[in-house]
Amino acid sequence: PAEISRIRNISKVQFGKFDLFPWYFSPYPEAYTQEDLIFICEFCLNYFCDNKPFTRHRQKCTLLHPPGNELYRDDHVSFFEIDGRRQRTWCRNLCLLSKMFLDHKTLYYDVDPFLFYVMTCKDDQGFHVVGYFSKEKESADGYNVACILTLPQYQRKGYGRLLIQFSYELSRIEKKLGSPEKPLSDLGLLSYRQYWSENILDLIIACNEREEKITIESISEQLAMTPQDVEHTLQALKMQVYHRGEHKLVIPDKLIQQRAKAKLKKKRVLDPARIQWKPPV
Ligand code: COA
Ligand code: NA
Repeated sequence: PAEISRIRNISKVQFGKFDLFPWYFSPYPEAYTQEDLIFICEFCLNYFCDNKPFTRHRQKCTLLHPPGNELYRDDHVSFFEIDGRRQRTWCRNLCLLSKMFLDHKTLYYDVDPFLFYVMTCKDDQGFHVVGYFSKEKESADGYNVACILTLPQYQRKGYGRLLIQFSYELSRIEKKLGSPEKPLSDLGLLSYRQYWSENILDLIIACNEREEKITIESISEQLAMTPQDVEHTLQALKMQVYHRGEHKLVIPDKLIQQRAKAKLKKKRVLDPARIQWKPPV
């Protein structure tokens, strides 16, 4: 539809303790686009033109976390699963919010066919939304992520990695190979390339140390990634060489050194053992 490529229409959003400055158009009702500042309740995601009704709302709103089951919790983050059909308004509000930071096609009305996996950080006020990804309940193309977003106030802190990891952990539990829906945005592509490279490299290094044979298929299976994504990553890293009629995996020394250096900056990861989830039947 033409409307989603329209230019940015909201100037500023008050969201919890943060001010957000939208990047793109989002189909909030016309009246909201006339305002210098709109207010979004960070828990129920309802939106308001004026401070007064918003303040009244905050006194009444009892929601302290996304309206679904908590599937994961560690010292830093939680994940909640929200069904688009059962929590239609909340999910539509989430899509409206995230559309402000997503350039391309995103759903924001027909949320029923999707599940939303929302990552939060907890403090004494409640569970604050950090980011999320949506996932089709049944994806004909085998996608394990439709849309993925880290709210701008939390970007470049490693949360995108956690979202991507969670999506692959779910695929692993489902015994499926997953891949994000295309096209990816520039930021989406950067984040996925980084995730794929790091994880494939770590796996190959570990296998080499154990003198274990490794193939594209075994990488794909162990990481729940599609063979295509594995192969593209290997090519991009120049790790695949063709030798005497055989594909071989060779890790350039430079990559091993880079990876060792990167690992010194401890990046947060999820503990898969803490996930409490069964694939929907
Ligand atoms: N510039 C360069 N590299 C970037 C980047 C940027 N702005 N943002 C992410 N990356 C790469 C880096 O390699 C980074 O690793 P590093 O920090 O160790 O260098 C890696 O991605 C992971 O970054 P992380 O901090 O975990 O990601 P994030 O929390 O910022 O979330 C997105 C990544 C894509 C979810 C986030 O940028 C976003 O929500 N963008 C807007 C919505 C969007 O485009 N979604 C994808 C739609 S397909
Ligand atoms: Na997408």
